[in-house]
Amino acid sequence: MAVAERILTKTHIYLTVRAEDAETATSRAVNIYKAYITRLYENSAGVRGIRIDMEDPVERKDLPGTWTAVGTMRAEIPDDLRVLGADTPLDAWRAIVRSTWARVTREWERDLVRAESYVAITRRAVPGEEAAQESQADTPKKLIPITVHLQGQTHNIEVPDTDTLLDGCLDKGLPMKFQCKAGVCDECKVKVLKGMEFLPPPNEAELNMLGEALIKQGYRLSCQVTIKGPVEIEQ
Ligand code: FES
Repeated sequence: MAVAERILTKTHIYLTVRAEDAETATSRAVNIYKAYITRLYENSAGVRGIRIDMEDPVERKDLPGTWTAVGTMRAEIPDDLRVLGADTPLDAWRAIVRSTWARVTREWERDLVRAESYVAITRRAVPGEEAAQESQADTPKKLIPITVHLQGQTHNIEVPDTDTLLDGCLDKGLPMKFQCKAGVCDECKVKVLKGMEFLPPPNEAELNMLGEALIKQGYRLSCQVTIKGPVEIEQ
């Protein structure tokens, strides 16, 4: 019998819990993430290596008494993973991840804010990504604070100066729009409201995709730029 190949996946999760202080928020978020992993194993035969790296919870300025703990989940899925209505293993895993999340958020309704807690993006991990991250682990990255206005919400996050603006936001679980990550669509377009001086001049891809008129209005392709200082952007 052929052995199924395995696909490494990465999922961004946005969890918002109610808590009076950071310590309580941390322990609630850890318990919810643990319950989520347990349920995922129950719902997905053949999936292994599920791990969630959680960032320290950050108190929401717009929702006092609530804390957001962003998680990055990695899992290895077999390439024959299927569920009804999903034609690819990645789609099957997305369906499992979302339905299990819905169940866990119902079970923990008292401790979390359901409307603010969601699974943002599930994608195939880029080959070599883990190794590259590990080899860079000793290289200190400068973290830059940014403000992102997205879908009616404001997020204050920090992104490494070595990542593109898009990757920095995605790694924090923000559901940014993007498609190619190569400068050949304009899905990742953002408007820079403050801090344009910390971006490099537009490259050829940006000039081709956006044109000078949009660039003059402050639009940039977030997959094409890194930043050297604080910015405020909108998508
Ligand atoms: S994601 Fe396509 S141009 Fe940035």
